[in-house]
Amino acid sequence: MEYWKFSQLIINWYHQHGRNNLPWQIKKTPYNIWVSEIMLQQTQVKTVIPYFKRFISKLHNIHILASTSLDEILHLWSGLGYYKRAINLHKTSKIIVKQYNGKIPDNIIELIKLPGIGRTTAGAILSLSKDFSFPILDGNVKRILIRFYNILKNSRNKIDTNKLWYLINMITPLHHASKFNQGMMDLGSLICRYKTPKCKICPLYINCQYIKNMSQKNIINNKKIKKEKQYFYIIVQYKYFIFLECRKNKKIWKNLFCFPEFKNEENMNNWLLINNIDSINNQKINLIYHKLSHLILKMHIFKISIQNNKIFSKNKNYIWYNLNNPQRIGISKPIKTILLTL
Ligand code: ADE
Repeated sequence: MEYWKFSQLIINWYHQHGRNNLPWQIKKTPYNIWVSEIMLQQTQVKTVIPYFKRFISKLHNIHILASTSLDEILHLWSGLGYYKRAINLHKTSKIIVKQYNGKIPDNIIELIKLPGIGRTTAGAILSLSKDFSFPILDGNVKRILIRFYNILKNSRNKIDTNKLWYLINMITPLHHASKFNQGMMDLGSLICRYKTPKCKICPLYINCQYIKNMSQKNIINNKKIKKEKQYFYIIVQYKYFIFLECRKNKKIWKNLFCFPEFKNEENMNNWLLINNIDSINNQKINLIYHKLSHLILKMHIFKISIQNNKIFSKNKNYIWYNLNNPQRIGISKPIKTILLTL
């Protein structure tokens, strides 16, 4: 099929079935689009919606974002996952305020230099907020192209991303790139779905290779098995306060607050000993499996109550979290869920 026909079919489909009422589609400023696109990386639309609304209602513009503390930003991000995104968002806001007078650059080369903004996010910002003709190649768009053109893995068992960029560059129209891009993302998530595509109602059905070539299914379905890592956590409670440490030097949940974490039970008991806490009352209260992008965390959760709030922690960056009046800090989803039960 000619490239222009492909894009025309998508734009026509978008007019009839695409989404145009999402919170970030109401006022399509580069700032709103940028924040939404960062949140939408690796996260579903329905999950993002309440986070986006809350974030924008507190931090209306880039100047406010840049002058807000990282703890507050991580607080607003708590539970959304992939916290590096929030850290980069903050970094980039400071750069834009300092170097670009608070105006998000509309030059793709400048945009791509900024932390957390790759080719796809830059393309999304420029096309969705200004209707400039730049392509987007996110997971949804990739899946459509791979299926439609029956793109197979190469000898290294990888799909050639350059090939996908070439195709989407060719297909993206000069005019109405915004509708085309939004249409591709919507088609990918509503019709050309990962597990159960609705091929019969797809505008690309007649020319699509997917149905003709079922071997493709095997390629799309083979997911990597994740590694498992276990850690031990101790909830130390004093009255209605919980001891939390900031994970400054950790890879996972960096800069978020968490219960003290240990590699094994022995390290945890040594820590209790150093703190003169009688481990007899230490109880295992939960075992949680938490999926991250690259591994599964097996979290052994212990709990102990103490009579005074003296803790000798190597980590100087800690707080006593007030269960009755919680501080505004960043907390990961499983830790947040546990805190709600205390
Ligand atoms: N995923 C990434 N960006 C998106 C958008 N603008 N709409 C829907 N899904 C998306």
